[in-house]
Order: sequence, then structure tokens, then C-alpha cells
Amino acid sequence: MTDVPGPLWRGRIVEPPSDDLLRFTESLSFDVALAADDIEGSRAHVRGLGRAGLLDDGEIDAVLRALDTVAEELRAGSFQFVRTDEDIHTAVERRVTEIAGSAGAKLHTGRSRNDQVATDLRLWLRREGHACAVRTHLLQATLLDRAASAGEDDYLPGYTHLQRAQPVLLAHHLLAHFWAFARDVDRWRDALTRADVSPLGAGALAGSSLPLDPDAVAEDLGFARRFENSLDAVSDRDFVAEALFVAALEQVHLSRVGEELVLWSSEEFGFVRIADAYATGSSMMPNKKNPDIAELARGKAGRVLGNLTGFLATLKGLPLSYNRDLQEDKEPLFDALSTLSLSLVALRGVFDTLEFVPERMRAAADVDVVAATDVAEQLVREGMPFRDAHAAVGSMVREASSGERSFAEVAAADDRLGPDAHDAFLAGEAVRRRSTPGGAGPAPVSAQLDQARVRLADQATWLRV
Ligand code: ARG
Repeated sequence: MTDVPGPLWRGRIVEPPSDDLLRFTESLSFDVALAADDIEGSRAHVRGLGRAGLLDDGEIDAVLRALDTVAEELRAGSFQFVRTDEDIHTAVERRVTEIAGSAGAKLHTGRSRNDQVATDLRLWLRREGHACAVRTHLLQATLLDRAASAGEDDYLPGYTHLQRAQPVLLAHHLLAHFWAFARDVDRWRDALTRADVSPLGAGALAGSSLPLDPDAVAEDLGFARRFENSLDAVSDRDFVAEALFVAALEQVHLSRVGEELVLWSSEEFGFVRIADAYATGSSMMPNKKNPDIAELARGKAGRVLGNLTGFLATLKGLPLSYNRDLQEDKEPLFDALSTLSLSLVALRGVFDTLEFVPERMRAAADVDVVAATDVAEQLVREGMPFRDAHAAVGSMVREASSGERSFAEVAAADDRLGPDAHDAFLAGEAVRRRSTPGGAGPAPVSAQLDQARVRLADQATWLRV
């Protein structure tokens, strides 16, 4: 870094800034991620100044060309930052002025970093939020693929309280996660629609005395509309908080998926084998194969939740309108979305290459007690009130648990049950009987696969993928 001009506010403040001030207040180290958005926003602002007659054609051209040069320098890594570039906005404007002289010095006319940074961050979120939604969509496509190619004999115990409950098709289990991610995509769509507002033209907080047209600038930037209130425009960070919530809830979904993969890949379950390329070893124990991606998807939920709660705490005491505290919006947002993105890609790879072990799943599911509900429902069909049937079958299971006869044997000997009662104990029968809409058996799951395909196609239209 070279030591050249003073900060932007020279005039009112004459003493040079202390190192302590610069080190503590700078945001360049992280808001450099907004460089492309800052330049895009500046281009639209310059065109707006032209339409307002505040810059002539030669000046517009000079500033736009200077912005191109700055973009190229930043892209190539040849951009020289200086000590007083406290943020990306300052750095870009300083360099534009070096290149374009007095035309460059007009760039900030009618604009404040307050409306500028809010604009940049909304542009950033529009792109990066969309990218998260696309990655979610791709993970869903993988889950759907794996579900569609699972067979009617691929079933496993469904669990409640992590105790075996009733068998479900593997496809049904995978699709359960598919629908959670479908809601995440819906939430991205909803949050990004609400974030689609241009703050540019709000100035520092109150608008401008110059003849600017925020509607035209909003349109130029591809925003759906402009702000309604200049105070709100520069102080509103709801779009950040909402994106953080969407990311946090989605990371919680990934965490729960991760937890299942950890369980399923354990020797105790043995339901899946993670591909070597997506598993890790131990530095000491040669026998180990570890599900680190699944664990980190789970572990990183902690930091994404922290980003949300930390930022809400930053916001809660702020009076209108812009306060420097708002600079704390960027790191949690950048961190949350990059953590989520990486997790989505890595977990998709795990699912793409995951080997299912259906015989282990079936062995865990084909235990006679998982038919208990079906046996009770058999009694219901024969006229017994469900509560009595529940008690009757409960005592059969209890007798079986004492060890002498299996549940199937106890049930077969019970004359309240008709002659075909033992059909309930045929391998796979419990899952085949789950026939109601949205249920875990073959007929509803096949309908559900169609619904999932429709949902994915709808999403693809919105996402333009
Ligand atoms: N770096 C600042 C931020 O991220 C830019 C806005 C600064 N505005 C100001 N009035 N100091 O929020």
C-alpha cells in the first residue's frame, strides 16, 4: 500500500487519520467482495447523473471508461490500494478520480456511501442468494435421482425417538429431505423478491436537492422497484437478516441430513457406504473411514446460526437511519452464504456417490414387531375399537419380549385375529401396506416421485437453470 491522498472527508476534518482509527474502522479487507457490484452501481449512477444533466457526454464517457479500467485492475489483481482506502467504495472512487480527473470527482454527486453500500449489498445478495438456491436445487435433483432408482424392495425402518417404528421405502426417506430443501428454495425466492429494491437515490438519508430519478436508476440496475422512504432505504437490513435466516434454517436441514449420514455409515447401522473420494481417514488409526463432510455440515450449522443471532443483536438497538454498526452486516452474510454453498456442493457429492446397502436396511426393517400397528389395524378391521386393539397387540409384544415365543407366533395363536393375520409378517409387507396418499409405501411414493419432478421443474423455471 502506498500513502497518498487523505480520506474522502478532508475539509471538515484536517488532522490525518490515526492508524488505530484506520485499522479499527476499515472494511476493505472484507467488502472487496463487493467490488463488481460497486462498479455496477456506479455505472448506473453515472448514467443517472447524465440523464439529470449533471455530467456531459464527455464526462460520462470518461467516468465509465475509468470504471472499466478499475474493474480490470481489480480483476487482474493489479489494483493498488492505499492506506486511506477504508472500504471498496472509497477505493473505487479514488482510483476513478485519479484516472478521469475532474470528471471522476463528479462520480459521487448526489450519492452517499449509505445508499451506495445498501445498493451494493442487495446486488451481491441477488446473485449469491440465487446461487445458493441453484445449489439447493441441484442437491434436490440428486436426492430425487437416488430416490427414483431405489427399488420397491429397498426399505428400511422409519424411526421415531430413534427407535424402530414402521418400515418406509428408501425413496420415501430420501424424498423427505427433498421436500425440506424445496421449502428452502421457496424461502430464497420469497426473500430475494422482497430484497429486490433499489436504495440508490436515498443519499445519506434524505434524498437530494439535485434532479435525480431513483426509479430510472432502479430500472437500470434491474431492480423490481425503488425504495419508498429514504430513511428506511439506508437503515433497512431486513434483507440481510432474512437471508441469514434462510441460510441458517437450510444449514439446519443439512445438519440433520449430516447426522443421519453419520449414523447410517456407522458399523452399527451399516445402511450406507460413503465413497472413498468423499470420506476421510484417521492420521493414526489405519482402520478408520470417517464421514467428515456429514459432520462438518452438522458442525457448521453452529456458525451459521451464530451469524443470524449475532447480526440480529447488532440491529436491535439502532436508531434511524444509517449507523456505522451496519458495517457489521457483511461478514456474517458472506460467511453464511459461502458456508451454505460449500456444504450444499459437498453433500451433493456424497449423495451422488453414496452406496446404499439395502440388505442391511431390510434386515433392520424385517423384524416382526414393526408389523404391530398393522396387526392392531387388522383387529380394527374385524370390529375392535382401536384403543382396545392397541392394548391387545401391546400385550402380545410384551409377552414376546419375555423371550419364549416371537411376536409373530403369539399373534398367530391369537384367535381374535383372522386366518390371514400372519400375512402382516411377510417380508416387506408392512411397507407395502402403507398405501395412503403421502405415505411410505410403493403406490404413494410413486405418485410422490411425480410430484417431486413437477416441483423441480417449477423451480428450474424460476431459477432459469
Ligand atoms: N463501509 C461502510 C459500511 O460498510 C460504508 C458506509 C459508510 N458510511 C458512512 N457514513 N461512514 O457500512
